[in-house]
Amino acid sequence: MEQTIQVGLGERSYPIAIGTGIIAQTGASLQAANMANRCAVISDDRVAALYSGQVMASLRQAGLDAELLVFPHGEASKQLATIGELASRLADLGFDRGDGLIALGGGVVGDITGFLASVYLRGVPFVQIPTSLLAQVDSSVGGKTGVDIPQGKNLIGTFYQPRAVFIDTDVLHTLPRDEFLGGMAEVIKYGASMDSDFFSWLGQHRQAILALDPTVIIPMIRRCCEMKAKVVEQDEREGGLRRILNFGHTIGHAVEAASGYQLIHGFAVAIGMQAVADLAVRCGVADPTVAVRIGELLRAYELPTAIPPDHDLATLRAFLRTDKKTRGGRLFFVLPEQIGSVRITDQVEEADVDAVLGGQRA
Ligand code: GLY
Repeated sequence: MEQTIQVGLGERSYPIAIGTGIIAQTGASLQAANMANRCAVISDDRVAALYSGQVMASLRQAGLDAELLVFPHGEASKQLATIGELASRLADLGFDRGDGLIALGGGVVGDITGFLASVYLRGVPFVQIPTSLLAQVDSSVGGKTGVDIPQGKNLIGTFYQPRAVFIDTDVLHTLPRDEFLGGMAEVIKYGASMDSDFFSWLGQHRQAILALDPTVIIPMIRRCCEMKAKVVEQDEREGGLRRILNFGHTIGHAVEAASGYQLIHGFAVAIGMQAVADLAVRCGVADPTVAVRIGELLRAYELPTAIPPDHDLATLRAFLRTDKKTRGGRLFFVLPEQIGSVRITDQVEEADVDAVLGGQRA
C-alpha cells in the first residue's frame, strides 16, 4: 500500500512516498533516484535500535555502501557541537559531494541531518525517513533545518530541501502514545486552518485513526503532506503564506518554553490553537462555535486545551516576545476566521492577548 505526491519546487522538486513497508525499500528507492554512491544513515540511539537494521540491510541489498552515525536522542543533541562531531566523522570516512545523508528519526534527527547536509562541503543530498507522526506530517517536508542555541530553539538554521521523503506508517506502532497524540495536534492544525472537510473527517474517523488503521492513516498523512507541499511551493522561505503553518505555534511555543520544554511540543500547540481560537472570538474575527469545535476535536484526541496553572502571565508574555516569528518587534497571530480558513495579522491588542493567556487555566 503506497501513495506518492510531489513537492513542486522546479529543479528542487521531490517525491513523498507514503505507505506501509516503505523502509524496507529504502535501498531500491535511492538506487532508482540515483542519489548517491555512498550513504550515511544518521539517527538517534532509540530509533537506530528499532529501525537502522532494516534500513542498512536494504541499502546493502541494493549494492549501496552505507555507514551508520548515531547520536543520543533528545532535544539536547540539537546543537552545533553535534553538527561538528558528525561532520568530522563524515570527513574521516572520506565522504564527498557524490555521497548522501539519510535522516532516520523524528524532528530532531531530521533538523540536524538537514542542517548538516546543507553545510557539509557546502551541501550534499539528503533524504528524510521520518519516524514520528509530527515529522511525517510536518517537519520532514518543506526544507526547514536547524539547531538550538541557549537563547532559543531553531535560532540557527537553513532552508534546504531533501531529495525525497519516505514515510513508513508501520513505524507509528512503536511510537509512544503521547508522541502520536502530539503529532495529531499538527494534523488537526491543517484541518482547522486550511481544510474544513478534513477537520470533519478527523472527527468522524477518530477510532480508526487512534487504532492506526493504515486505510485511514495513509490518506490522513497524505492530505497533510499535500497541504504542506502546496504552502511551501508558494512560499518556501516564509515570507508570508507559510506563516499559516504556525497556526497555534506562537502561543504554543511560549507555553512550551514556560514549561522548561517538559511539555510535548504537540500538546503545547494544542493549547496554542485553543488560545488563538479564543483570541479570534475575542477580537470579533470568529464566531464562538469555531473555538468550541476546535476545542472539542482537540479533546477528542486527548489533547490539552488549557494553559497549565503554574504558567504565570508575565512569564508567558516574556516568552511570546522572544518568538522568532516577530518582525520589527510585532507579533504575528494566525487567527481562525472559520474552520478551514485563517487571517494572518499583527493587529491584535495586547490586552486581548493577555486576557486569553490569563483567563485560560487548567
Ligand atoms: N513547521 C512549520 C514550517 O515548516 O513552516
